[in-house]
Amino acid sequence: MELSASQVRSLILDEHTVLRDVLEEIDETLGEMTRRVPGAIGRLRGTLRTFQDAFLRHLNHEETVLRPLLVDVDAWGPARVEAMDEEHRAQRAAIAELSRLALDQDLDATVQRIEDFVRRLRADMDGEEHHALSPEVLRDDIIVIDTFMG
Ligand SMILES: [Fe+2]
Ligand SMILES: [Fe+2]
Repeated sequence: MELSASQVRSLILDEHTVLRDVLEEIDETLGEMTRRVPGAIGRLRGTLRTFQDAFLRHLNHEETVLRPLLVDVDAWGPARVEAMDEEHRAQRAAIAELSRLALDQDLDATVQRIEDFVRRLRADMDGEEHHALSPEVLRDDIIVIDTFMG
């Protein structure tokens, strides 16, 4: 099934909504960590794992359905794709780093690092929605103008 640009856009935006909900949950468990609520580390570990799985699936999904659209959306297509690839590389590295964190060592430092991670990802998603995922970029009425040379 071929998806239109606006269908791809709403699909990806729905995933962002789900991811933001999980980031909210992470925020809540970070608050519990700070207050030393019993069981907080276990809950944080669980929500982080949920997020990592969902986010990696999201990156793959963007690369499968969004990337090919973005390439020829306009003259900046290749640059947009390059920016996305670069961002995804950094995000995968951050996810991998996060998964190696020993959550129960230095609680406050851990909370801070994960807060930074959450803040950065929220900013990335906002930025993506303003650029690659903006309705001006992912339009259904793209007209391809042939230029005849010679
Ligand atoms: Fe992305
Ligand atoms: Fe995204």
